[in-house]
Amino acid sequence: MSIRSLLPGRIGFGTAPLGNMFRAIPDEEAAATVQAAWDQGIRYFDTAPLYGAGLAEIRLGDVLADKPRDEYVLSTKVGRVILDEVEDPTSRELGEKGTLFEHGRPNKIVNDYSTDATLRSVEDSLGRLQTDRLDIIWVHDIAQDFYGDDWVGVYESARTGAFRALTRLREEGVIKAWGLGVNKVEPLEMTLDLDEPRPDAFLLAGRYTLLDHSRALQRLLPAAAEQDVDIVVGGPYSSGILAGGSHFEYAEAPAHIVDKVGRIKVLAQEHGIGIKSAALQFVLAHPAVAAVIPGATRPSRIAEDFSALAQDVPYSFWKSLREQKIIAHDAPVPVKDAS
Ligand SMILES: NC(=O)c1ccc[n+]([C@@H]2O[C@H](COP(=O)([O-])OP(=O)(O)OC[C@H]3O[C@@H](n4cnc5c(N)ncnc54)[C@H](OP(=O)(O)O)[C@@H]3O)[C@@H](O)[C@H]2O)c1
Repeated sequence: MSIRSLLPGRIGFGTAPLGNMFRAIPDEEAAATVQAAWDQGIRYFDTAPLYGAGLAEIRLGDVLADKPRDEYVLSTKVGRVILDEVEDPTSRELGEKGTLFEHGRPNKIVNDYSTDATLRSVEDSLGRLQTDRLDIIWVHDIAQDFYGDDWVGVYESARTGAFRALTRLREEGVIKAWGLGVNKVEPLEMTLDLDEPRPDAFLLAGRYTLLDHSRALQRLLPAAAEQDVDIVVGGPYSSGILAGGSHFEYAEAPAHIVDKVGRIKVLAQEHGIGIKSAALQFVLAHPAVAAVIPGATRPSRIAEDFSALAQDVPYSFWKSLREQKIIAHDAPVPVKDAS
């Protein structure tokens, strides 16, 4: 099933930063950010058990608890079970993203993509989110960035465990859709090559942005469109640098990225637009992309995102990005050449 009919609009809200991804955020600030998203009209929220070992789900659930359940769409993820037992968050094995969420809850995180763990994870998420149902479930991070060279084995355990369990939940009407939520294109390409099980959509983070899109553009997005598998784009700001922050791929940005973003900023300024407009509108210009879900921890970001989407970006800006080879020559842009 295409999830376009399920999603209430093309912009949602991603809650990874609310798991204290980069800093310890006061509960009130986290709540005010979710409320700001709601007040701006956002009705699609994405979260995961991993984000602060349950913290983002708890914070999101606290704000949504008094909202009518039929009015919003919720996605969370499976693959990590959060235990009551605690651990040292700095000693977690999170692949390339080792210290991410060290400011989150200290609860032990267990990677497990089996059927039993999937069902348990869903139950636990329902509790933390204070709801009786989830709409979309993503199988989380079955890719090389988290599991190194073992990732294919992890993928295989998810294929025979989580994929089948989620297919059943969808058939039973417990959830409406499922897919994979990853930072890499390879597991998604592999999944499209399977005869079954069939996912409804993919959450692809960081691989379709102004800074990194060539690979997804070549094969993944056309193949997904052909199979009616919608793409939700996560990490549209590459974790911050494309929004005016300093993070790229969840760490301080290296010099070559700072330089590249500097070139985009110069062009944006010359054309009288903001870099956020460029980042968000580029993502949404691809026809395979059903929605984009920027994350934030400050209420003011949400209004910024909406004005970024509303801003008129002239074709000459996109043309300059192409000419300077910042974006691929065949990457779709939102406006056609008017000349
Ligand atoms: N494997 C997966 O399934 C996966 C992976 C990654 C992401 N995702 C999903 O996609 C969502 C979005 O990705 P993301 O949150 O990781 O990254 P993102 O949307 O690319 O960037 C979010 C960051 O941008 C910063 N930002 C926004 N406006 C700014 C401004 N004006 N100046 C400076 N910084 C600014 C925010 O900072 P503040 O915190 O200061 O507001 C926030 O930390 C996630 O929350 C998650 O739901 C899924």
